[in-house]
Amino acid sequence: MKKFILLFSLLISTTIIIFSCTKDTVTPVDPCTGITISISTSQSAPTTGQNNGSITVTATPNGSYTYSINNGTYQSSNIFNNLAAGTYAIMAKNADGCTSTSTSVTLSATNPCNGVTITLSTTQTEPTTGQSNGSINVTATPNGSYTYSINNGAYQSSNIFNNLAAGTYSIMAKNAIGCTSTSTSVTLSETNPCNGINIVLTPTTTFADLCPTVNNGSLTLGASGSTGFTYSKDGGTTFQASNVFSNLAAANYPVVVKDVNGCTKSQSVTVSPNPGGVKFNAVRNLMVSKCASCHFSGGSLGGVNFDDKCNIVTKWDRINIRCVVQGTMPQAGPLSTSEKQIITDWVNAGHRYID
Ligand code: HEC
Repeated sequence: MKKFILLFSLLISTTIIIFSCTKDTVTPVDPCTGITISISTSQSAPTTGQNNGSITVTATPNGSYTYSINNGTYQSSNIFNNLAAGTYAIMAKNADGCTSTSTSVTLSATNPCNGVTITLSTTQTEPTTGQSNGSINVTATPNGSYTYSINNGAYQSSNIFNNLAAGTYSIMAKNAIGCTSTSTSVTLSETNPCNGINIVLTPTTTFADLCPTVNNGSLTLGASGSTGFTYSKDGGTTFQASNVFSNLAAANYPVVVKDVNGCTKSQSVTVSPNPGGVKFNAVRNLMVSKCASCHFSGGSLGGVNFDDKCNIVTKWDRINIRCVVQGTMPQAGPLSTSEKQIITDWVNAGHRYID
């Protein structure tokens, strides 16, 4: 009986103990009750097309937190790096596992060229007239690695554009991250290759014979002030390498000298008829005064006119006969002895135009 009582009381005690333990665990305390975790964020925006944005999280109240982005694994760092543009859900969790509400953070891409100003300056070489030999040399600032484009063409590494004709060109530069300058307009103007060239023309001529008329005059064009000359006597229609023109009639010639660059000098040059010999001219002068309007200035009494010098040469013997041998001309009376001698001297010299 004693044994039974002992066992019974032990059973009761155990029951009491078990009962009292069970009673303690039925009313657990939630550690997150009354806990409000707030988060604030700061952010660094990514540049366009790149994953270089970041979000930095600050949780309050102070404590030991871990952090999650887009419901991912919690990490100890409060900084999320390598983020592209987009909207992210951020949460923080304290040491007791209590979480903040989700905070939405939007990262907007920033243009990497914002605040970048590329300035162009150019120097240029003008093309010569009708040629594509101009050039544009571009300098971009600030210093850096640039490529260059002309007229919206492909970008090239050289900052020099060559072989350009006259015209207006738009120039742009692009830096290593693709930021471009504004377009700069450059106008190339033709330069005359003849500017500063002063060709000096020194023509010399020889007479063309007259009575009879022979086209044996000549023209020699001396030229200086440039090089590579060619020569024209027909106003530039045809050019020749020689500066001598032969077998010319007495006339005015519009000569042109052209140099290696096509620069020209023009001038009218006269190849004169032979002016006649001294004795001939003495005879003619005598006749102009003594034969007067009967045979000059259109007068042609007896069918003879001496306005054309060659008629004097042709009629030399009739003049000699009428004025010297017969003395029947001029009509008003014969020439004096000395006047007759002027005619005789010419006749004896050969009665040619050039005598
Ligand atoms: C006042 C006018 C007059 C003057 C001046 C005159 N003549 Fe005549 N000449 C004539 C007449 C008229 C004839 C036609 C009649 C004749 O043949 O006599 C003529 C004819 C000629 C003839 C052509 C006939 C022939 O013989 O072949 C010659 C040549 C000529 N004259 C030369 C001269 C010379 C040279 C002078 C000047 C030194 C001169 N004459 C001055 C009036 C003139």
